[in-house]
Amino acid sequence: ASEYQYLLVSRPKPGVGLIQLNRPKALNALCTPLILELNSALRTLQADKTIGAFVLTGSDRAFAAGADIKEMKDLTFSTAYGADFIEAWSDLVTFLKKPLITAVNGYALGGGCELAMMGDIMYCSQKAVFGQPEIKLGVIPGAGGSQRLTKAIGKSRAMEVILTGDNISAKQAGEWGLVARVFETPQECLDGAIAAAEKIASFSQIAVKAAKEVVNKSQDLGIREGVEYERRVFHGLFGSKDQKIGMKAFAEKQKPEWSNE
Ligand code: CAA
Repeated sequence: ASEYQYLLVSRPKPGVGLIQLNRPKALNALCTPLILELNSALRTLQADKTIGAFVLTGSDRAFAAGADIKEMKDLTFSTAYGADFIEAWSDLVTFLKKPLITAVNGYALGGGCELAMMGDIMYCSQKAVFGQPEIKLGVIPGAGGSQRLTKAIGKSRAMEVILTGDNISAKQAGEWGLVARVFETPQECLDGAIAAAEKIASFSQIAVKAAKEVVNKSQDLGIREGVEYERRVFHGLFGSKDQKIGMKAFAEKQKPEWSNE
């Protein structure tokens, strides 16, 4: 039996940690216990030296249909503010140093869309439906949607999505660059995400960590500071064993055996 009530955790390929949201009766609505389990599973995998990248997915019908509306409906300002409601979600992005690929099939609405956007790479299948329908519930996105969606697809499109509550089709998500790739079927989407994670996990974990860090910096810094930041980290990698291993292997036409140091 799984140690989690709302998740299935497995290792489908060497170096890959797969987490599947598993609350089918509620279309994977993201209740607080589920988010706490997700944090715990990611922390465990993050600490595991044999894991190089993660895939997060849901079911064919729903990646996640949002935060749990039934859990939220009686919240007051004091209870939401006092308990820092949703704050636990931020953990997902702040502590995770290894790459996370989100593979979206079915509904990714509200908090589900926000969770998907926390992935470093987003993939989806033709069956995916994205949206931020919070406006229809008398609220607004609360787990970063207004910020991440706007950065991903631009202000005018994000305004349209958030203000009308209309869904984004998979095709549109692909054309707008919300996702990196649109696969035909859910199985192809998951297989594609696992294959990408396996490839990432086959590289030096030091270099992968640095690459993720510098791309993320581009979200916060201006171009000049960002390029300087990148240069510092790039120079720093010449102090790693894996830089020596990687370049020596190239020069000798060998396959590198990474030390992850
Ligand atoms: N919270 C709690 N329960 C949910 C849920 C959610 N976000 N989404 C679906 N469910 C439950 C339904 O209540 C239903 O439960 P019962 O069988 O007990 O009635 C079950 O999941 C199946 O859902 P439906 O019967 O509604 O399935 P459907 O196929 O007819 O419709 C859907 C699917 C269009 C996704 C519809 O369920 C829906 O609109 N869900 C809500 C989407 C939404 O508004 N999400 C945003 C939430 S707010 C938020 O996320 C805030 C934030 O930014 C953090």
